[in-house]
Amino acid sequence: MSETLSRRSFLGAVAAASTLAPAASPVSFHVPPLRRAQHPVAVSSRNGLKSVEIAVQKMKDGLPPVDAAVLGVEPVENDPEDTSVGYGGLPNADGEVELDSCVMDGRSGLAGAVAALKNIKNPAQVALKVMRRTDHVLLVAEGALRFARMHGFVEENLLTEKARKEWVEWRERLSKEDDWVDPQENGPMGKEYVRQTGTIHVGCVDQNGDVGGCTTTSGLAFKVPGRVGDSPLIGCGNYVDNDFGVAGSTGRGEAVILCNGAHRVVRYMADGRTPTDACLDALKDLVRFTKVKRLLRADGKPDFQVNFYAVNKRGEIGGAALYPSKHARCDEDGPRVVDSAALFG
Ligand code: GLY
Repeated sequence: MSETLSRRSFLGAVAAASTLAPAASPVSFHVPPLRRAQHPVAVSSRNGLKSVEIAVQKMKDGLPPVDAAVLGVEPVENDPEDTSVGYGGLPNADGEVELDSCVMDGRSGLAGAVAALKNIKNPAQVALKVMRRTDHVLLVAEGALRFARMHGFVEENLLTEKARKEWVEWRERLSKEDDWVDPQENGPMGKEYVRQTGTIHVGCVDQNGDVGGCTTTSGLAFKVPGRVGDSPLIGCGNYVDNDFGVAGSTGRGEAVILCNGAHRVVRYMADGRTPTDACLDALKDLVRFTKVKRLLRADGKPDFQVNFYAVNKRGEIGGAALYPSKHARCDEDGPRVVDSAALFG
């Protein structure tokens, strides 16, 4: 039998079968979608108290959840005092600010992302454009910058004086063996400086039960130039499934990438777990994957922090972290910061 005939008979069989199938959906789900939310709700990292309020208001105004999330993170991207995101973010090891962001839209099932983007302070807006104006998901570095320029984003110096001084002090403290003189011990960073992996994630579910999410960051402070964390990677720093909910992360990006954190949380919600339990179970997996000694404390627990945030399609909000932490949320009771569940107290 020729390949053509074989293909034709296969297509005929498919056509015959499809006349017997229910007309409404071309596919069947093994897990029924959750009942939808009644009110718009949003979750965010602790630095997103204003963001969740903005996002909920934008959804009430009729914007899709993904747009609401992007508008929610914008004031934090613009804030020079937040050294973990956008303008004022701490630079890479060469003193250059490189930003990462992604967005995902549940209704269309599409996503957009940029990584190692320089000179543009609102990478989440650029990620949204990648989603809407290209057939791609992720643009990086020079290509992402050229795309941003093409869409009229204005280039500016993102390195504030505050961030520059922190970078210089980090560089001077790096080694006793190099030619940089250590700053005084009581310098602004102090002796116990911990490299920052701050970020903002906003996850949204609207009154129609549609789901969207956004994560944006300047990434690990003083990273190796070109390093990309979890934030712009779909399924790692942010993931949306319109039948079940949204999840995102902040903290050590490498650990989140290695367990596909946000996707894992959403899958656990699809399996019936509450958002907080889904976050906790994903954290347990992350701990299981953390094996090398340099990443462990003396008691065997991870030597870093990771937070997961989640909202299910019903509008139930949850958050959990490896160690005690907080998250921001907004529902019909308004915006507030609350404790996250902690895997290790
Ligand atoms: N979670 C942010 C980063 O690791 O880049």
